[in-house]
Amino acid sequence: MAVVPASNVLDQLRWRYAVKKFDSSKKIPAETWAALEHAIVLSPSSYGLQLWKFVVITDPALREKLKAVSWGQTQITDASHLVVFCGRTGVTEADLDRHIGRMAQVRGVSADSLADYKKMMMGTTRAGFPAVEWTARQAYIALGVFLTSAALLGVDACPMEGFENEKYDVILGLKEQGYASAVVATAGYRATDDKYAEAAKVRFDVNDVIDRR
Ligand SMILES: Cc1cc2nc3c(=O)[nH]c(=O)nc-3n(C[C@H](O)[C@H](O)[C@H](O)COP(=O)(O)O)c2cc1C
Repeated sequence: MAVVPASNVLDQLRWRYAVKKFDSSKKIPAETWAALEHAIVLSPSSYGLQLWKFVVITDPALREKLKAVSWGQTQITDASHLVVFCGRTGVTEADLDRHIGRMAQVRGVSADSLADYKKMMMGTTRAGFPAVEWTARQAYIALGVFLTSAALLGVDACPMEGFENEKYDVILGLKEQGYASAVVATAGYRATDDKYAEAAKVRFDVNDVIDRR
């Protein structure tokens, strides 16, 4: 038997929608937010390299600044939490060593025993090349995990690409840290008068989209 019944998962995925209007008075409880942060961290990534960083912003003044470069979208200021999913702008040997070091520590093996693994990663990631598109794709996986986890926890969210990436990078000082913003998510609780909550979900039929062979 599945740990979570399939009908519960689907009910929550049908319940979720891209919130246009958050209730700014409602905040996500600390324990629930901590679970969402852990969910992000548990996202899978290519080679497990985790070439990402997630900037969580609750500061109202900073969020006002970001709204100005997010097409004025009110979710940016009204949601309980805002997360900017960022990817590394380039993959360096130090990034690979960081991962190898962590793996050695967690699994209780020597870094030397992982030398072949590192060499393989060096070859395929071409360490040093600008990999921002590749790392952004990884960040989107984390976005998916975040949105699904939020839905399962009964937290509303809105994924957002409607913002000026380069301006975010400047405001948040990401470039000098070797990161670039990829995508944003806002999370909190829907306003009772957000009409989008009642709109029927528009999806193609499962048999039109799933190609079974
Ligand atoms: C990558 C991505 C970027 C999006 N950007 C925005 C955005 O900037 N503002 C917004 O209100 N909705 C945004 N959306 C929400 C989509 O419009 C919404 O997910 C889609 O219409 C499907 O509706 P549903 O999520 O309510 O089921 C985005 C969704 C995704 C996946």
